Amino acid sequence: MTTFWNWYVTILVLGTILAMALLIFGTRKGQRQESTDETVGHVFDGVEEFDNPMPKWWFMLFVATIIFAVGYLVLYPGLGNWKGLLPGYDYLDNEAKTPFAASVQIADGERNAGWTGVHQWEKEMAKADAQYGPIFAKYAAMPIEQVAQDEQALKMGGRLFASNCSVCHGSDAKGAYGFPNLTDSDWLYGGEPETIKTTIMEGRQAAMPAWKDNLGEEGIKNVSAYVRGLSGLKTPEDIEADPVAGQEIYATNCAVCHGAEGKGQQAMGAPNLTDKTWLYGSSFAQVQQTLRYGRNGRMPAQADFLGNDKVHLLAAYVYSLSQKPAEQ
Ligand code: HEC
Ligand code: HEC
Repeated sequence: MTTFWNWYVTILVLGTILAMALLIFGTRKGQRQESTDETVGHVFDGVEEFDNPMPKWWFMLFVATIIFAVGYLVLYPGLGNWKGLLPGYDYLDNEAKTPFAASVQIADGERNAGWTGVHQWEKEMAKADAQYGPIFAKYAAMPIEQVAQDEQALKMGGRLFASNCSVCHGSDAKGAYGFPNLTDSDWLYGGEPETIKTTIMEGRQAAMPAWKDNLGEEGIKNVSAYVRGLSGLKTPEDIEADPVAGQEIYATNCAVCHGAEGKGQQAMGAPNLTDKTWLYGSSFAQVQQTLRYGRNGRMPAQADFLGNDKVHLLAAYVYSLSQKPAEQ
């Protein structure tokens, strides 16, 4: 803040507090101290007001708010350029020991800066890092399959999943429309432990093109009939479609990604079209919709957000889900 605004804010705030104090003490001074039957003289709808002093406890409440305000302004930053008396970064004495603290870049001038919400957050993160960092690091050094056998690791992974992944994949990881089920053995990108980790670290961006301009409604109808047929779904009777023509369209346009037999290709996240798993629905209308407008599912990358050690635990957790025997 420039000097001008610093003084502008400071004088305005302190002036207001001072004015409030004067007002409170000033009005009290002029008042009588004892109770009385006299009224102040005005009548509203038959209601009159006694000319009594303000109750003491009420008056003290006003005084308390003023004391609170002054105390707050002394301790916390906010009054112009005043940094407050609460300490800033001096808690980071364990800097070298925790990876998080080491990653916080503190400018020299800021080291002794007072309390801020950011400082407090950084302090809590540094503390959590000091406490949990070694545990995360221990698991990060173990192969994912082995971590997936460790009960404590799975508990930690489960908690990370609940707070970071369940919004999209569901709290049971069974997915939803557009969000894949992570508990089955059907993988868009592959279920090997390291592949799962890569998916979570780097994220994934699916690119199923839109076909409405290329194939037209007729073509989309025919290829929908063919594709649904791959997993044994029959075309509804009220729809006239030619799956044989659809097969030709498939061979020319779709096999590149989904494979000649429709079994999919994990390298590009092109799903297997011959199984019963449908990310975007299996009804004739839904498949047509997928083909008309394309689909672009996006799994957000976690490398910069959660970091390697947490993702390692998450990969183990997700891997463990698909290793469980299928529920009956
Ligand atoms: C460039 C590669 C590519 C081509 C070409 C392609 N697809 Fe896809 N397709 C994908 C990808 C990737 C997805 C997954 C989209 C997602 O996860 O958001 C997908 C998804 C689908 C789905 C949805 C499956 C589900 O589980 O809901 C259907 C159906 C489908 N494709 C059919 C076709 C047909 C039919 C063609 C040819 C007309 C075709 N695709 C051409 C890559 C491709
Ligand atoms: C914003 C929503 C969103 C969040 C949050 C999210 N995901 Fe995903 N995830 C997706 C989508 C969408 C896909 C499918 C991408 C596609 O269609 O190709 C996906 C795909 C995946 C896959 C690949 C599945 C396969 O079949 O290959 C894994 C593994 C995965 N997510 C794990 C996670 C984990 C672990 C987290 C928590 C750190 C997470 N996801 C958070 C949306 C999300």
